[in-house]
Amino acid sequence: MAIERTLILVKPDGVQRGLAGEVINRFETRGLKIVGLKLMRITEALAGKHYAPHVGKPFYKGLVSFMTSSPVVAMVLEGPKAIDACRKVMGKTFCTDAEPGTIRGDLGVSRGMNLVHGSDSAESAKREIELFFNSNELLEYTRAGDAWVVNDEDRA
Ligand code: RTP
Ligand code: MG
Repeated sequence: MAIERTLILVKPDGVQRGLAGEVINRFETRGLKIVGLKLMRITEALAGKHYAPHVGKPFYKGLVSFMTSSPVVAMVLEGPKAIDACRKVMGKTFCTDAEPGTIRGDLGVSRGMNLVHGSDSAESAKREIELFFNSNELLEYTRAGDAWVVNDEDRA
């Protein structure tokens, strides 16, 4: 099935800079459907679980400190090949390397303060969505315009 869900975070720098709406808009206008959304503070414990794959890397401590420093906007987005589609909308990891037209390439100049997180695989998406959202916070609904965004071929 080609319809996927992915976890997206507007990181503390994005929220502090008043760019949460702009970041959400990039995904929404592409056609991705918001199925979960909330403003929240990431605890040390949650950051530790979320970034477990990065434990021991030189940037790990700074990353956890940054991600717990101020609220984030967490969301689950749904659409055809959503995981890769969102990563492309985000751009390369460091804003300094990201292409214009991407969130990081248009809105940032930093390496680590790169505005947004997106799951990088189906396994990561499942794990991260379960970390950030209870199942009753994820809503299934049809948007009036969905028939013009996704067709049967996309769903197959
Ligand atoms: P993300 O997880 O945030 O969506 O970004 P990503 O997959 O492109 O990058 P990843 O390798 O998973 O790294 C997670 C976050 O750690 C920070 N980082 N800093 N200073 C460094 O060398 C370095 N490397 C990574 C970035 O904030 C990156 O998004
Ligand atoms: Mg990553």
